[in-house]
Amino acid sequence: MKYGPTHLEIFLTRLAFFFCSRSVYKAFADRLPLTGGEKVLDFGCGMGTVAYYAAKRLHRGHLTCLDISERWLDACRRTLRKYGNVDYLLAGSPALAKEIYDVVYCHFVLHDITDDELERVIPALAGALRPGGVLAFREPLCDTDKVSLIKDLAERSGLFTRDNRITDIPMMGNALECLYIKK
Ligand SMILES: C[S@@+](CC[C@H](N)C(=O)[O-])C[C@H]1O[C@@H](n2cnc3c(N)ncnc32)[C@H](O)[C@@H]1O
Repeated sequence: MKYGPTHLEIFLTRLAFFFCSRSVYKAFADRLPLTGGEKVLDFGCGMGTVAYYAAKRLHRGHLTCLDISERWLDACRRTLRKYGNVDYLLAGSPALAKEIYDVVYCHFVLHDITDDELERVIPALAGALRPGGVLAFREPLCDTDKVSLIKDLAERSGLFTRDNRITDIPMMGNALECLYIKK
């Protein structure tokens, strides 16, 4: 069964992508530590807003777009149809990817996940990284308890902070961007 967004939600997201893609999504993709040959996981890819720019940077690498919603994944396939270096995975946990990545990123995904679910998801994100690999995320700052839980779970999962910054995102407000390294 297909569940997830309505056609209207997908349409509105496409509209936002059309008007704000460079200042919102490209800006985040450009800050990912990529040299072009990495294996990367986009956890909660949605319609592929960030993936569109990340895949462009992976000339010799590969991107896996994972989402729990088949509808979002279908929309992502359409956004990225011109790329040959992408595969798609319908799953609710990074553990299901069964691969090890150089970089895993989440863009506006973790704040929507329940605290109980985060206790499983964050260690699984850390487990999907090779030693020295990077977890990057950007999440809205409005729910400070959620942000603290995410950071706490990342540290408890063997990840070390490399960078933290607050960005003011057009139409979305303040967000926290973090880079963590797996030792
Ligand atoms: C707000 S959207 C963000 C989509 C995209 N990253 C972006 O910034 O445009 C959140 C996405 O995370 C997905 N998602 C939520 N919980 C998930 C889970 N446990 N596993 C995989 N994807 C999940 C949703 O289906 C949705 O596509």
